[in-house]
Parts: sequence; C-alpha cells; structure tokens
Amino acid sequence: MAKITYVEHDGTEHTVEVKTGMSVMEGAIKNNVPGIDADCGGACACATCHVYVDAAWDGKTGTKSAMEESMLDFAENVESNSRLSCQIKVTDDLDGLVIRMPESQH
Ligand code: FES
Repeated sequence: MAKITYVEHDGTEHTVEVKTGMSVMEGAIKNNVPGIDADCGGACACATCHVYVDAAWDGKTGTKSAMEESMLDFAENVESNSRLSCQIKVTDDLDGLVIRMPESQH
C-alpha cells in the first residue's frame, strides 16, 4: 500500500491509498481522481495517462521502456520527468509519491 498524491494542473491535490501491484494510473481511476483518462486501459497505447513524477521520486519509479518512450512522443508538454502512469507499478517504496498532471489533461 502506498499513499500517492495526485496534483491536478490547477493545484488541486488528491491523496489516496493505492494497493501494491496496481499501476499509478489504476490508483487514479479507482479513486476517481480526474486528469488521467487512460483511454487504452493501461496498454501503453494512448498517452492519456501522462504525468510528471516529482523530482524526489525520480529514481524510484523505474525506467521507461522503449514502448513508453515512443508513446510519450504522442503526449503534449512532455518534460524530462514525464511518465505514462500506467507503466509505473505501485510498491511500498512509493509511499508518499507525488505526481502532477499536465495542462492538457483536465
Ligand atoms: S493508459 Fe494508455 S498509455 Fe497509459
């Protein structure tokens, strides 16, 4: 279980508990956190689950696969800390994780 804070582009924060083994995207959907549409259901094929990982958590969220990298090319406002939230698995180590939504997703 990890407590994750999702921050909408307008600054609205949603702190929820997400079960280990779920993805960061699933944690948002399950808790009705707006800003993550996840049109493809987590198949790394839509980029509507784009988020920014807070710098402090950079090394803990794993590395991007080649597929995730290429799908991020379709997202808007991509930054160096951009990730597809369906590709980040929740572990106990991510307790306290903060992610932010891009402007294009609200
Ligand atoms: S939910 Fe579609 S790429 Fe993440």
